[in-house]
Amino acid sequence: MTWWRSAVFYEIYVRSFQDTNGDGVGDLAGITARLDYLNDRTPQSLGVDALWLTPINPSPMYDFGYDVSDYTAIDPRFGTLGDLDRLIAEAHRRDIRIILDLVPNHTSHEHAWFREARAARTSPKRDWYIWRDPAPGGGPPNNWVSSFGGPAWTLDAATGQYYLHSFLAEQPDLNYRNPDVVAAMDDVIRFWLDRGIDGFRVDVIHKMIKDAALRDNPPPDPTDVHPVRDYFGQQHIFDQDRPEVHDIVRRWRRLLDQYGERMMVGEVYLLNPRMIVPYYGITLDELQLAFNFSFLWTAWDAAAFRLQVDQVEELLPAGAQPTYVLSSHDSPRHRSRFDDPRLGDARARVAALMLLTLRGTPFLYYGEEIGMRDVEIPLERICDPVGQRFPSLGRDPERTPMQWDGAPGAGFTDAADAWLPIGPDAETVNVARQRADPDSLLSFYRRVIWYRKSSAGLTQGTYRSLDSAADTFVFLREAAEQRLLVALSFADDARTLDVKDATGRVVLSTAAGIPSRIAGQLELPACTGVVIELDS
Ligand code: GLC
Repeated sequence: MTWWRSAVFYEIYVRSFQDTNGDGVGDLAGITARLDYLNDRTPQSLGVDALWLTPINPSPMYDFGYDVSDYTAIDPRFGTLGDLDRLIAEAHRRDIRIILDLVPNHTSHEHAWFREARAARTSPKRDWYIWRDPAPGGGPPNNWVSSFGGPAWTLDAATGQYYLHSFLAEQPDLNYRNPDVVAAMDDVIRFWLDRGIDGFRVDVIHKMIKDAALRDNPPPDPTDVHPVRDYFGQQHIFDQDRPEVHDIVRRWRRLLDQYGERMMVGEVYLLNPRMIVPYYGITLDELQLAFNFSFLWTAWDAAAFRLQVDQVEELLPAGAQPTYVLSSHDSPRHRSRFDDPRLGDARARVAALMLLTLRGTPFLYYGEEIGMRDVEIPLERICDPVGQRFPSLGRDPERTPMQWDGAPGAGFTDAADAWLPIGPDAETVNVARQRADPDSLLSFYRRVIWYRKSSAGLTQGTYRSLDSAADTFVFLREAAEQRLLVALSFADDARTLDVKDATGRVVLSTAAGIPSRIAGQLELPACTGVVIELDS
């Protein structure tokens, strides 16, 4: 089976994983040093199969690397190309794949391409970006707004034209209607594939092409309020998700296919799964995987999760692989989102069991395996540009340093201060402590991930949800060799499930005290989950 179908991915926010040079910022050598924790090919390790590294290219860091100033080099804060080569080699020795973040929609304003483009209206690179004269009465050429707030256009006073930026003014959008830009990005992709990278996570892929005529976005449609399409008072119809984007995605897929089993997972930040499906391609000739972020906005409610999963299962064409994610560098961590102080980490366990047993490719976010929470950031330490504009939406709280141990720098850094504050619970919530404890959340993640590897039901089985007691989510994963029943209770009190002729062995459970065999009826204590290998 293709590796990315059975793999468990792990997102590393590089700045926050492991610092080795004492500057308070994580680096590539730090990731290499921690590979055995991630997967040493034994169940002593977490067992993840692939790492997605957030951007490591040189960047002035207005958006922490999502503003690239050179696509084919490494930012010195993170290391060198040699450090990356070592990381790839050491990872591959452990059967860990590495994918890089590709940020094609926009560059940094400090990228040589943009410097050249803005130098003069007649610059050969002018048309690599999207420039327009002011509107007839002055002001921006149309009504588009940046995803980070404010107009999506900034006037370049020297040349008298506006340039487009879907995010910060320091992140000008490239013009993919210009074939030279398309060719330049092909070269970037080849550069990293030639270096042995296994694929890419592609940033905001749905934004790469805009309406050719730059038509105004319409006002919100009161009958179809879509939380991601309708933001800042308009429907994002003409500035993203244009039909022509699929030509580019297909082109990149053909390029990847020339290299054998390389893959891309696209950030299609469109909440509705119906809008994500086209990015797999009509004949599955586009993205191998498209992010489905629906869990990031799903409340702690069994029926709501079932609905999300059933919908994706129904919408995706045969052969298209779903993806699931509970936490990421752009959203509050689920340990905090779902927190209920009376339940300890019980909800985090049930959520993890769900994520890792659904049909699809799961993406973990560093630290979720130890139950890291969002960290409150004092105003004067806010780094994220979104947080600086809208403190309550800032993304620093979920980006704090990995909590390796209970020492002052949490085992992350020797520096007096890490770039973001370390979680106040690091003394108790850390890898060192949980590793030694067979009942810890970390040990639970390890057990599930290693079981998953050996399970035909989980890696190849079909998915079918079953009607069940209130506040529970029950589904079957069935392959020729193995039939599994996954039963998850989101309830605050005990639930009895009538599983009829479901008789079998309990192979995983989130809590102690579950009998090892089940025959017909299952008593689930408050907020617990089990996986049962059915006898037939
Ligand atoms: C994506 C990234 C996010 C970044 C934005 C602009 O959504 O995940 O972190 O700010 O793109 O590049």
